[in-house]
Amino acid sequence: MDTALLMPDSSAPTVDRAEGVYIFDNVGRRYLDGCGGAMTVSIGHGVGEVIEAMHAQAAKVSFVYRTQFTNEPAKALASELTAVAPGDLNHAFFVNSGSEATELAMRVAIQYWRARGRPTKTRILGRKLSYHGMTMGALTMSGHEARRADYGDLLQDFALAAPPYDFRFPVSGPDAEGFGAGVWDRVLREEGADSIAAVIVEPIVGAAGGALTPPIGYLAALREICDRHQVLLITDEVVTGLGRTGRWFACEHDEVVPDLIACGKGLTSGYTPLGAVLFRNHIVEALFGVGHGAPFGHTFSNNPLSCSAALAVLRFMKRNAILGNVAARGEQLRVGLAGLARRFPWIADPRGRGLLWGFEFVTDPDRRTPPTAERAANLRFVERCFENGLLVYPCGIAPLNNAVIVSPPLTISELEVDDLLERLAGSLEGFGAVIDFQGWKRAGPAPFTAGAAKRL
Ligand SMILES: Cc1ncc(COP(=O)(O)O)c(C=O)c1O
Repeated sequence: MDTALLMPDSSAPTVDRAEGVYIFDNVGRRYLDGCGGAMTVSIGHGVGEVIEAMHAQAAKVSFVYRTQFTNEPAKALASELTAVAPGDLNHAFFVNSGSEATELAMRVAIQYWRARGRPTKTRILGRKLSYHGMTMGALTMSGHEARRADYGDLLQDFALAAPPYDFRFPVSGPDAEGFGAGVWDRVLREEGADSIAAVIVEPIVGAAGGALTPPIGYLAALREICDRHQVLLITDEVVTGLGRTGRWFACEHDEVVPDLIACGKGLTSGYTPLGAVLFRNHIVEALFGVGHGAPFGHTFSNNPLSCSAALAVLRFMKRNAILGNVAARGEQLRVGLAGLARRFPWIADPRGRGLLWGFEFVTDPDRRTPPTAERAANLRFVERCFENGLLVYPCGIAPLNNAVIVSPPLTISELEVDDLLERLAGSLEGFGAVIDFQGWKRAGPAPFTAGAAKRL
């Protein structure tokens, strides 16, 4: 490493500027941002009115400490954000990242039950193949084996339920392995709801699963199970929130109102760092009714500059009917990816909703055999796309590491989706050889059995 900036991957180019869906490096190469960085950029790069709003706010005041002053951008953002949120999610608090948002939701859930006289309810259950952030509490709730490994028993051992992973574990039919929402009923009974404050799920699993998309109805069934067991429901909408799936929040597809929503990423489209937690009325009434409230807040909470950026992004999205674009371009991407899966048999199960899509690599489409982990299919494919001027996001499903996410800015045009699909096709051409497609025919059968899959 030859730089003071700690960057383990020093081969990354230096960015110069970005405009719309394109990023330019300092030697003039252009990249189509096919994954919004990390599923973050929602309205594209360099939008003038966001920059102007931030400039105007910075010229007035960039920072105040939240206990000393409130500020107009934070108040307006809370009001406009809760107005687009479903049900009585009528309150918002702003933090600095998705990890802080999920961790705040965790603390609030614990505090809620304490305020309701149920102090034993302290555990937050999540799912395998999930990611809620890198801080210790967020990681404790995450089923991300690779990232948990470094911290061993420093992390709480909260139970993790099976994920909705239909491609490998059908949720219905004779082979059903209990990977539907029903699994939660068993988990909550076995673990004992008396010790459980909340369940946290990503409506569509992002980085940990390559856009694992449960059928409509999954979240509604989970809501009913949580209510029956008196457990709160937190949706982690850090990736799916703010329009990514075609609704303001992905829980709306199921007409579900979670008790708490965590957001981040697309909230500011990446213009500044910001996360948020949305609270239903009954949570706030319990927390503040007893007079102590939750342990909220960081130095930069409710930051005026970041809130002004998020407010400008939200207003831009409303004024330009961006959700309509997500529906149209999402359909174009769905059809395009399905076509690519027919043309290149080494990609399988394109799945997603709106402009959040993922797919996997297989070496045997019939048996759905993944490439061996050593082939590092996801990273090598990302590299290949990079060489073709396209950014896509490598995903986990450890230990397979064979999935990729495509999640362009929500403002992407029809021609730009064509460009994205063309670059994707160019990168897929010949990729079968890289992952040893049908290599098992030469080496002897190596079926990917359900038993092996269950150990994921
Ligand atoms: C679903 C989900 N939740 C939480 C986080 C954590 O967000 P951040 O990296 O902003 O802390 C991420 C980050 O990728 C995420 O994908």
